[in-house]
Amino acid sequence: MCGIIGYIGERDAAEVLVDGLKRLEYRGYDSVGLVTEEGKLFIKKGAGKINELKEKLGLTNLPGRRGIGHTRWATHGIPNDINAHPHTDCSGKIAIVHNGIIENYIELREKLEGSGHEFKSDTDTEVIAHLIEEELKSSKLFEDALRRALLQLKGSFALGIIYTDDKEHLYFVRNESPLVLGVGNGEMFAASDIPAFLPYTNKVVFLDDGEYAVVGKDSFYVKDLKTGNIKDKKIHEINWTLEMAEKQGYAHFMLKEIHEQAKAVKDAIYGNLKTIDKVAEEIANYEKVFVVAMGTSYHAGIAAKYFLQRLVNKVVLVEEASEFRYEFEDIVDGNSLVIAITQSGETADTLAAIKLAKRKGAKVLSVVNVVGSMATRLSDLVLYTHAGPEIGVAATKTYTTQLTVLAMLAIALAKRLGTGDKGYINFLEGQLQDLPKYVEAVLGYENKIKALAEELVNKKDFFYIGRGVSVATALEGALKLKEISYIHAEGLSAGELKHGPLALVEDGVPVVAIVPTGKTFDKMVSNIQEVNARKGLVISLGDNEELEKVSQVFLKMPRIDELLSPVVYIVPLQLLAYYLAVLRGNDPDKPRNLAKSVTVE
Ligand code: AGP
Repeated sequence: MCGIIGYIGERDAAEVLVDGLKRLEYRGYDSVGLVTEEGKLFIKKGAGKINELKEKLGLTNLPGRRGIGHTRWATHGIPNDINAHPHTDCSGKIAIVHNGIIENYIELREKLEGSGHEFKSDTDTEVIAHLIEEELKSSKLFEDALRRALLQLKGSFALGIIYTDDKEHLYFVRNESPLVLGVGNGEMFAASDIPAFLPYTNKVVFLDDGEYAVVGKDSFYVKDLKTGNIKDKKIHEINWTLEMAEKQGYAHFMLKEIHEQAKAVKDAIYGNLKTIDKVAEEIANYEKVFVVAMGTSYHAGIAAKYFLQRLVNKVVLVEEASEFRYEFEDIVDGNSLVIAITQSGETADTLAAIKLAKRKGAKVLSVVNVVGSMATRLSDLVLYTHAGPEIGVAATKTYTTQLTVLAMLAIALAKRLGTGDKGYINFLEGQLQDLPKYVEAVLGYENKIKALAEELVNKKDFFYIGRGVSVATALEGALKLKEISYIHAEGLSAGELKHGPLALVEDGVPVVAIVPTGKTFDKMVSNIQEVNARKGLVISLGDNEELEKVSQVFLKMPRIDELLSPVVYIVPLQLLAYYLAVLRGNDPDKPRNLAKSVTVE
């Protein structure tokens, strides 16, 4: 959840760190801090957002050519100046930045306090600095002391560590929280995510859980934490460009990413054309199919259930990874296929679900955006969404590309298994190729949606209803609205409306109805009429103009097959959430209380 950056080289370290932190701010933004070294450690930190603190504290006025920085999403200890990272030991020679949770920190803290260590913050992180200091009493080598200290920690941690007396190195550790190294020319970087150092290098080394790196400006090595043995690490060249991680004139990353969707969907299609049949071949014969994911990725999983059930006639269970990891131990087995969907490839619950599935002998296929992320390394098979970096906390282009890849997979499976109507499968394949065109077309509604947002800005509750695969769109539309506009919203299957939620529909309450032409069209119209009877404000999305007669607002959508419609129908709902957030004065890129990757449980 927090963001970590580290730099060692010939540049002004503080400049590089602050620049990197700005690119990592989507991971957490309640406090910021950095430490550099020039003879001694120089630290500046505080609660607040990076641009405010850059001026107020003079974050870039720190000397030195090496340092580490942090942007925080609080777990232990309220967001304030003292709890902001970095944290130091008693001597002030060791400074730490941390992403994750140290589960046994209370016990460690009591022990260290008993040995005379004085703590300044309420964080779990500070124990690490004191623990290393303690271990240094019986070891001359910093690396040894560090390793001994790390072996005492329980929980998840990505760490950046700087020690005054070791002028040549920085130390980085990964255990269930993401961390990558960036390899430059005479300089090295480390960060929670690649965009942080993308202006300087696209050569990356992915650390695995239980590894630590000792990083100098010209070289580095990685060791296994438990054994202390050197690990052989590959340097990957990634094809993300700096432009991809910049706003390029858009007011927010989210808006830019919404607009990138036609291209992203196209890239998702072409990026998987060669691999999809091979993957389909490997998973075709599994009868037990589970889909696990969280948040928006979970909604893509709900759509996937409909894709697979309709085209391949398989029963598919979609579970939140946070439930699956605790409830499915006795159900998942060697005959199971587990499809894990995760943009970041680093979501703690999804990784835990993958690990459980692997332990039980299941075959794991991950659908992931971030190349080389942990999910990709834990899984048997991977399909990439090719959406490019997504910086806005609210998932947009990674959702539509997940849907695209999952639809391609279902089509490939149907062809291999000979299920479904052949003519229909061929038709869907053709429609799939047209998805980018349809996405582009609905982006043209932007001004209309902006005007609609102005009308709806003071509404307090929204409902989103759909049937079949459109339930995914209803849930995702509601999630987008909640997370960035902070307006209460519920997404539900329209059939559920009469079983309770209809009691909340009264004069003027917006009900967004997702109604592509399909087998439940008439049922949806009946649901809309039930809303009208309670004077609800119906906003319908569909391709059938009959809807205009029963709705206060009608968005005419392109005629696309119902099964693929979620890729197109979500786009206006993303725009609606975006403009409502902006009109209400919120920063859609950094919604309160949320972070891009939920790397703690
Ligand atoms: C939605 O906009 C959020 N970003 C969130 O729900 C997200 O989809 C969820 O945390 C899962 O993340 P992942 O896809 O990286 O695993």
